[in-house]
Amino acid sequence: MKQHTDPYQQPDLQDPKVIEAMAKRLEDRGEHKGFLSFIDDYIETIRGLPELETVLDLGCGTGVVTRRLRAALAEETTVIGSDISEKLLQKARELQSEGILWEHAEVGALRYEDGSVDVVVLHTVMSHLKDPLAFLQEVKRILRPGGLCIVFDADYASTVYGIADFKKGREIETALLGAIIENLDICRRLPAFAQQTGLALERHQSYVISEAGRGDFWLSSVRGFETLIPALEILPESEAEAWVGEMLASHEQGTFFASGNYYTYILSR
Ligand SMILES: C[S@@+](CC[C@H](N)C(=O)[O-])C[C@H]1O[C@@H](n2cnc3c(N)ncnc32)[C@H](O)[C@@H]1O
Repeated sequence: MKQHTDPYQQPDLQDPKVIEAMAKRLEDRGEHKGFLSFIDDYIETIRGLPELETVLDLGCGTGVVTRRLRAALAEETTVIGSDISEKLLQKARELQSEGILWEHAEVGALRYEDGSVDVVVLHTVMSHLKDPLAFLQEVKRILRPGGLCIVFDADYASTVYGIADFKKGREIETALLGAIIENLDICRRLPAFAQQTGLALERHQSYVISEAGRGDFWLSSVRGFETLIPALEILPESEAEAWVGEMLASHEQGTFFASGNYYTYILSR
């Protein structure tokens, strides 16, 4: 099988089927009540910040979080959604054209002036970056003193898809998630990254999304893998079919199990 580069590092270079599957997964997640409530928790923190002029959703994808920020924040607050992918930004614009500044980001230095942004949201972005520490340093540069960096991410190293053969399941999870996530353990490294960048770790919050019996949130990720596995050549065909088949069948039979942990880190400059 191939050596993999996290496809979220260069979405626009992916096969159209792959980018479609990525966009669908992002929007599916954004319909899950629990997932939305995690976003609402940190939006509440953002709303508590005095003098909220500019909020930047960096790595906004199709804009799930950006739209929610726009709906929750005062009209005077500028909400920016920024991403390296023109194709995902195009979808974001189609989903909401009004009230949000959609901006193309370059890899590397951010386009914003020092201290010019009140809040930066990184929602499942750090887990995909080649150099998350350098990225966080750039984020710190553009934050105003007292500004917040909200990092929400999955601890993909603890994501579990239940199949009958536990050992085989572990191998497959590592192969699947490892192929599309650069940093499976990002949540475990964030306290050290905060210290190294000089951002204060104000607090963190942990969450779990687990599904037993039938799948919804995690079932949509299995369906995404159904497209991604052959397109990115992640697993041998027969192994992939068996894994996807078992996961989908367990949903039909009411024996589905999958679970994963998420964390929000509130960092301040
Ligand atoms: C898993 S998606 C998350 C999208 C969105 N935040 C959400 O949760 O719905 C990761 C996003 O980060 C973007 N991305 C990756 N590297 C980036 C970079 N260096 N600067 C800005 N965006 C980046 C990708 O294009 C992709 O849209």
